[in-house]
Amino acid sequence: VKFQEKEKSVEQVLFARRASGLSTNATAGPSAAAISFDSGHAFPGILPDLTQVATAALSKYRAETLQYAPRPGLPELRSWIAEYMRADGVVNLSPEEVLVVNGAKHGLELVCRLLLDEGDSIVVTAPTYFTAIPIFKSFGVGFIEIPQDSEGLNVSELQHSLEDRKQAGKRLPKFIYDVPDFHNPTGLTMSRNRRETIIELAKDYGLFIVEDSPYRKVRFEGESQPSLKALDDSNNTVLTLGTFSKLMAPGLRVGWIAARRDLLARIVQLKSDGGSCPLTQRLIVEFCVTGQLDSHIRRVQETYRVHRDRMVDAVRRELPEAEFNVPHGGYYLWLTLPPDCDGDDLAKRAAQENVILVPGSKFFTSSGGRGVGQPSPKNHIRAAYSYASPDQIDEGVRRLARAYHSIP
Ligand SMILES: Cc1ncc(COP(=O)(O)O)c(C=O)c1O
Repeated sequence: VKFQEKEKSVEQVLFARRASGLSTNATAGPSAAAISFDSGHAFPGILPDLTQVATAALSKYRAETLQYAPRPGLPELRSWIAEYMRADGVVNLSPEEVLVVNGAKHGLELVCRLLLDEGDSIVVTAPTYFTAIPIFKSFGVGFIEIPQDSEGLNVSELQHSLEDRKQAGKRLPKFIYDVPDFHNPTGLTMSRNRRETIIELAKDYGLFIVEDSPYRKVRFEGESQPSLKALDDSNNTVLTLGTFSKLMAPGLRVGWIAARRDLLARIVQLKSDGGSCPLTQRLIVEFCVTGQLDSHIRRVQETYRVHRDRMVDAVRRELPEAEFNVPHGGYYLWLTLPPDCDGDDLAKRAAQENVILVPGSKFFTSSGGRGVGQPSPKNHIRAAYSYASPDQIDEGVRRLARAYHSIP
């Protein structure tokens, strides 16, 4: 007991403020024993066979792939990404405006390192991507939560909030963080009109927009809207985070930031990893330039459309109490349960049935989800259809419905 007491007091002294409140429960990823609707893991059956490109990377490019890489990334990969984004409407994007990072989440952390000081604030949607929340919190920032409707972030509420702050002489937020395509967790895609308005608003108030769009190509039907980066004519406002996690495989841990050169020149100095792994970057280049990515993306779209349809049908059949929008792409259903249903309790009961989901409460940064001073709604749950097989989706939703009906 004495030893434990001593250890505790040392921890209290040593931890930085950003770490002192952190949980000690590490997340282990999907478990074989349970059906996993909780994570954005890829369906194992869709992971590409990379053995040939890996062999090429390790033989033809051995001197490059086993050496330190250029810090901004392999030139061929930066060129490929720039071309990929140009083809998606970001005209004139040059390879120098692309920085290779270790996944979009890493990109987000770097953007925070560039822009945030303790006491700053940022704008997020309510709800927002829950893994981003601890990253933001570790920078000691405050949140301005703005709700969404069927067209995405509610820009008129954002404008009121910004104007109120300005009139009150308060500091304006540093940036707006949003997932405009197949939002995580709501699955919503921002309308064209909202996209144009949010960029105008950000310009008027002098804010950056951080566009995080990992699911943009995971579209099952309908037309894409131009990305925020494509609509940012001045190229001054939007920093875009991209990733190969949803295009190819999350284990590669390669993504990118597309932004103004001067911003990237600073970010590269804040990136402390000695350059992203050149072996993985070369492997991706080989996969992409040989045309394999295009056919892989088509498989991804077909596979997850089947998963989405299975989950939509299963929820309608087994749990008609849950309301949701049918997403046209992405990985998630955002279920709204009757107002008295506590999503945390439901997630616990579902775990007892061996089906794992993330309760909606985790996607709100504070108590402001329904406007200032109002508590965040508790009656949501996020169900990911990406990782589980179609049969597991049926079974998992049956178990979720059982858990729901066990609530007294
Ligand atoms: C909105 C959003 N951003 C970022 C990520 C993480 O991307 P990466 O694997 O490239 O770090 C995810 C993954 O689920 C996501 O949903």
